[in-house]
Amino acid sequence: MPTPPVALLLESIHPAADAILVAAGFRIDRTSGSLSGPALDQALERATVVGIRSKSALRASHFTRHRQLVAVGCFCIGTNQVDLTAAQHAGCAVFNSPFSNTRSVAEMTVAEAVCLCRRLFEKSTQLHAGQWDKSANHSHEIRGRTLGIIGYGHIGSQVSVLAEALGMRVIFHDVVRKLPLGNAQSRPTLDSLLREADCVTLHVPETPTTIGMIGAKQLALMKPGATLINNARGSVVDIDALAAALRAGRLAGAALDVFPIEPDSGGDEFASPLRECPTAILTPHIGGSTLEAQELIAQEVAEKLVHFWQHGSTETCVNLPQVDLPVLREGQLRILHVHHNVPGVLGAMHTLLAQARININAEYLQSNPTTSYVILDVEQFEDRQLLDGIASMPATIRMRTTSHAGAVIESDTRVELS
Ligand code: NAI
Repeated sequence: MPTPPVALLLESIHPAADAILVAAGFRIDRTSGSLSGPALDQALERATVVGIRSKSALRASHFTRHRQLVAVGCFCIGTNQVDLTAAQHAGCAVFNSPFSNTRSVAEMTVAEAVCLCRRLFEKSTQLHAGQWDKSANHSHEIRGRTLGIIGYGHIGSQVSVLAEALGMRVIFHDVVRKLPLGNAQSRPTLDSLLREADCVTLHVPETPTTIGMIGAKQLALMKPGATLINNARGSVVDIDALAAALRAGRLAGAALDVFPIEPDSGGDEFASPLRECPTAILTPHIGGSTLEAQELIAQEVAEKLVHFWQHGSTETCVNLPQVDLPVLREGQLRILHVHHNVPGVLGAMHTLLAQARININAEYLQSNPTTSYVILDVEQFEDRQLLDGIASMPATIRMRTTSHAGAVIESDTRVELS
């Protein structure tokens, strides 16, 4: 009986991941918190794949010390807690889940559009302070009002659908031409959208063109009494300019989930001029934080890890060349070879196989400037020397084979690193 591969899951990853990994033959090793230092190294010693969220950092030394590590699953959006270049140099694939919390952010955005229109947070804060203000002044329905979406990508387009369902008129601006959903209409410039919308919501990534894209000049273009929502990235809005516009009553309110500087941990105090603005709804970067999103993330990343382990597929991988591979056929051996992108590697592999009279049934290749990933499907064979020969070619970074053993797909990592 071969020993089962181990999936080390840190930081209370949603249990939906376990079922998927166990069905693929993994043994699960779990911790509720993050690990660092010697404890992380000790846990990694047994791991074939490791699942982390945002708190566990995987640095170059981890990839050098734990050469058996085949893949990393970031059960979150970001991957900057992993040294992606070091992982690439070790031939270790890194996956994440960029879009599983799209719906959660979209729902929160629409909820905030309603709350801002009805001044619900102010009313609630007043009532907490004992003040009963039942007036309808400055309270509006969102029905018929215009929502301006900046960035019509995964989240922006979902917001568009939900907002229309509530009777809003939707306009959007994107730097890329996008198919408008429902009755939404695109606007050619940011300024034209700002002049027309009753509520502006931001759903752009952080790039050199979006940093500071909403400053004093843009806020001045917005309709008097309009509202602003930023659930995208903190650097997109000039907070001092926004606080001034709110204090002056130029904008009726704002909702912010992301900030230029966010506390590292729950113990650190949140500092912002917006704390003094009662018309600002402030939330601690929770737009994508729902149990539903956590479950979707667990399923998506676990499936990616399994697909990579069993079939070698690197589709959506963030650090290795992407290859979407078909399911391995029974009776086939798949050679998964990550190597430095230098001339002659494929030719050398072909020659070694041809000399052993082994026919290649299928071949897939993708490269980036430094690294190539080639996959060869051949009839099952037992020639260990041949595999060792391919694995020990000077350009090899990592080599692995997968094959059908009965109904189970086994991955052989005996010949894996040069
Ligand atoms: P996406 O990549 O699907 O869409 C972004 C859109 O913005 C694209 O259509 C792009 O063409 C457009 N864009 C880029 N630069 C632009 C510019 N200068 N002007 C107008 N449009 C521009 O991204 P997705 O998944 O919709 O995420 C949007 C934002 O939401 C990201 O910043 C992400 O970090 C943030 N986010 C926040 C979360 C939270 O917890 N608050 C959770 C998830 C995502």
